[in-house]
Amino acid sequence: MNTYKIAVIAGDGVGPEVCREGMKVLRQIEKLDADLHFEFQEFPWGCEYYLEHGEMMPQDALEILSEFDAIYLGAIGFPGVPDHISLWDILLKIRKGFDQYINLRPVKLLKGAPCPLKDVKREDVDMLVVRENSEGEYAGSGSWLYPGKPNEVVIQDGVFSRVGCERVIRYAYELARKENKRLTSISKANALNYSMVFWDQIFQEIGAEYPDVETDSYLVDAASMFFVKEPQRFQIVVTSNLFGDILTDLGAAIAGGMGLAAGANLNPERKFPSMFEPIHGSAPDIAGLGKANPLAAIWSVSQMMDFFGHEDWGRAVLAAIEQLLAEKKILTEDLGGTSTTAEVGDAVAALLKK
Ligand code: IPM
Ligand code: MN
Repeated sequence: MNTYKIAVIAGDGVGPEVCREGMKVLRQIEKLDADLHFEFQEFPWGCEYYLEHGEMMPQDALEILSEFDAIYLGAIGFPGVPDHISLWDILLKIRKGFDQYINLRPVKLLKGAPCPLKDVKREDVDMLVVRENSEGEYAGSGSWLYPGKPNEVVIQDGVFSRVGCERVIRYAYELARKENKRLTSISKANALNYSMVFWDQIFQEIGAEYPDVETDSYLVDAASMFFVKEPQRFQIVVTSNLFGDILTDLGAAIAGGMGLAAGANLNPERKFPSMFEPIHGSAPDIAGLGKANPLAAIWSVSQMMDFFGHEDWGRAVLAAIEQLLAEKKILTEDLGGTSTTAEVGDAVAALLKK
């Protein structure tokens, strides 16, 4: 019997509603598989907690979380707390504190999912973006000089360490080799003459260890165009923190929308727990109305199962999502349906089979 301890930080806005459905699916897996057991512990951290306690989560939060096998996160952010506080003090703190340096984001158009692109076959949108998740443009390094004065200056550094670049690029090469797929690096060395020249150089250096992996290297502006025009160019993509952030929202737009976009924040060495989340925000405008689409949160449960080594269940969860989309009967409003968040969760659980 495998028991997994999962810390649930449902967070703000629609976070709790969508997490509930992901947990429902995990409970269903438990019912169908006598070898698997999940223990959930919920933590009430987030913006409401902040307004009451003056901090987004307690000082020893990482210590508490370190006991868990995984973290399941809903969404963070709510009007009344500035975004740079709410996000730096939970989401980014966990990603960085637990060295979750890989952010895996599938951009895969499932059967039945809407796609705004013309003349694109479903199979053409099928990539996995490996976003650097610990440093780069999001390192939080910089300074703010002479605030409010005429000579005010702000500097935001991009931090690209050799170790940081090598590990994410190597991870992507390994993945491409394992899955026998093409690997594309996305950077911007023509303008970012230090960071991205370095990135490209490391992409080449590591590539020498993987002569069997076919590669491309694109500038991020051109890559954005190809995401829309010729998404079939991309299979495994590796890119920096900021570019990965932007490209995966674009990716979500071509693969069914934010309601279907999931992400896994991984510490591949498993020294710390990894974190699984829908990548959409907290959508305060529809919070509590049962309108939020839980499929992204459920997809991230599929990623969690993959990471635990139960890929059969990872595939099964994705297949259930795909069947639901293809049947087009039980969907939330964003996908043209009239069902509630909970009804969609129930339906996925009911479709689940090993
Ligand atoms: C994401 C989010 C975060 C990020 C923000 C909220 C800090 O946009 O997970 O994509 O940029 O990493
Ligand atoms: Mn984002």
